[in-house]
Amino acid sequence: MLKKKVEDICNRQIEREGYSSNLYLAMASWAETNGLSGVAGWLYAQADEERVHFLKFIKYINERGGKAVIPALKQPGTDYKGVEELFKEVLKHEEFITASINEIVGLTLEEKDFNTHNFLQWFVTEQVEEEASVRAILDKVKLVGKNNMYQFDRDILTLRTPAGGGTVTT
Ligand code: FEO
Repeated sequence: MLKKKVEDICNRQIEREGYSSNLYLAMASWAETNGLSGVAGWLYAQADEERVHFLKFIKYINERGGKAVIPALKQPGTDYKGVEELFKEVLKHEEFITASINEIVGLTLEEKDFNTHNFLQWFVTEQVEEEASVRAILDKVKLVGKNNMYQFDRDILTLRTPAGGGTVTT
């Protein structure tokens, strides 16, 4: 049985993972309508991965005797100044998610909830990979410069890390 404190913070993470998925969908939609089909493809795939994270938390809470709450999600922005600005925002968001996961890990240690601590290890590893992947993209964006977006857009799908969300197994 999950302690209330742990259940509450995991429910908070459901909202954050759900928002992550919607945020990347909004970004994908922006990219798609601005002729950036490669960037859109990367973001659509990222949105799918975030949905997997969202589902993992839902299933985990319910399996441990808690109650997952499906939240209302705030609407993400619809406009981005450019590809570099967009990926800077992705990185900032992923750093926020990493801090959020680390906070839950800290709570599970305080509460001696070693099952949840163990469940979270997948997310700890995933966040390292996701941040590294976005940093690599930002390096590439800076390298090619604003005038070479055609080439960058064509190549971005080769920059995906193989890890990703995978199937929902908890
Ligand atoms: Fe599920 Fe990228 O945070």
